[in-house]
Amino acid sequence: QEDIFKKVISHAKEYGYVFQSSEIYDGLSAVYDYAQNGAELKKNIREYWWQAMVQLNDNIVGIDAAIFMHPTTWKASGHVDAFNDPLIDNKDSKKRYRADVLVEDHVAKIEAKIDKEVVKAAKRFGNSFDKKQFLETNPRVLGYQAKANEILKRLGKSLEKEDLADVKALIEELEIACPLSGSKNWTDVKQFNLMFGTKLGASADSAMDLYLRPETAQGIFVNFLNVQKTGRMKIPFGIAQTGKAFRNEIVARQFIFRMREFEQMEMQFFIKPGTQKEWYGKWKEKRMKWHLSLGMGEDNYRFHDHEKLAHYADAAADIEFKFPFGFKELEGIHSRTDFDLSQHEKYSGKKLQYFDHELNESYVPYVLETSIGLDRMFLAVFSNSLQEEELENGTTRTVLKIPAVLAPTKAAILPLLKRDGLPEVAENLVEELKWDFNIAYDEKDAVGRRYRRQDAAGTPFCITIDHQTLEDNTVTIRHRDTMEQQRVKLDEVKEIIKKEVDM
Ligand code: GAP
Repeated sequence: QEDIFKKVISHAKEYGYVFQSSEIYDGLSAVYDYAQNGAELKKNIREYWWQAMVQLNDNIVGIDAAIFMHPTTWKASGHVDAFNDPLIDNKDSKKRYRADVLVEDHVAKIEAKIDKEVVKAAKRFGNSFDKKQFLETNPRVLGYQAKANEILKRLGKSLEKEDLADVKALIEELEIACPLSGSKNWTDVKQFNLMFGTKLGASADSAMDLYLRPETAQGIFVNFLNVQKTGRMKIPFGIAQTGKAFRNEIVARQFIFRMREFEQMEMQFFIKPGTQKEWYGKWKEKRMKWHLSLGMGEDNYRFHDHEKLAHYADAAADIEFKFPFGFKELEGIHSRTDFDLSQHEKYSGKKLQYFDHELNESYVPYVLETSIGLDRMFLAVFSNSLQEEELENGTTRTVLKIPAVLAPTKAAILPLLKRDGLPEVAENLVEELKWDFNIAYDEKDAVGRRYRRQDAAGTPFCITIDHQTLEDNTVTIRHRDTMEQQRVKLDEVKEIIKKEVDM
């Protein structure tokens, strides 16, 4: 699994998808740049989302709010006081850990240990082996797991002082039961705020302390009434937005899964109080359908319903995706009640209420939120698409089976030879198609090698111009995923591609 993930990272670099930021200066941890193909894939994912959320729902509109917001925003939203990660330092190695991630790693190790024991026992007992029964009769293995799960449950964002001391004690215990760092010397667990600060204004005394937004959602909440009034929106309605968010993540690892600068695609749906359960169910289903529409395999998704809820939520679930390092959160669906709007009313002194003509009364709407990380979605698409295939002739091919609607380049035009007028016909085709799609032109090397190059770059179609083209105006169209080739008329090419890549 680790090897597969390494391959994903190196392929992303080699084929111009993702580079480490400021690489010539040895990079910046958990900050990445999207390269020539990555920027296109990212844009296509953003558009695919925007189309599904804004264009296809006549009661959802999109905005683009600023990254800088008035600092009171973050007091009202709870981020100044409660947007913390619990940290613990190892005094021997001087390494810093996020307490919850450290515990998660322990759980993973313990689970691997249990699996090993189960495999051993299954070998011994053969067919009569029952895993559940075996675990019940082996309290030792289950003991570790229960302990770790207990800590994980308590590791929310609003830990009290006593909890922090308990977490430390439990980490120490786990380190003895199932060592990870090999050290027993830990500091206390401290809460660390994840927001980046900056200053607005030139002179030192008049400058205002600001934060870089840690989520895009608040830009929607503070604009709720402006949009409702100017757009003459009637509840239920939604406001959608995509944009950068910033978090000073402590454990920044797993490539673009957890970044310090990332992009979110969020939608806040404003509803009548009391209807939140119904809308929560509807949006969970709608968002899962969106994911499945990309055809990346039903088995790769699952819901994870939260037991422990954030202070603003009365229900929450994640859509998890099977990344190369296991099932992890890709998108969150949160029933946020009237928490945010009420808080902004309180801190701003402005009414943020909706007048319901049917009920003839005003109220603070409830909010249903869908929130997905664009970079995380990128990683889901990219890692799931990268495949090594064994071919019939015994060779292997590396192919990036990005869904055609999202692929950075839709087709490559390949003249079979660099002479006999074939490049001219190919160039004419490029000229014709480039108004509708991103097109590549490649005339170097044998055509087989060019196919492989396009497979690895993720281009869904290759169009080959050969001598027959000069005679009857037909070309070969080769499909990346099946490697099937079809002979089609030159003037049909555009429609064939369009059918496959249109959103
Ligand atoms: N407004 C709600 C909110 O921000 P969240 O669960 O903190 O909720 C939503 O974040 C989504 O944003 C996550 O499901 C994830 O896809 C993405 N995300 C959060 N932190 C991230 C990070 N450091 N790097 C990349 N994506 C991140």
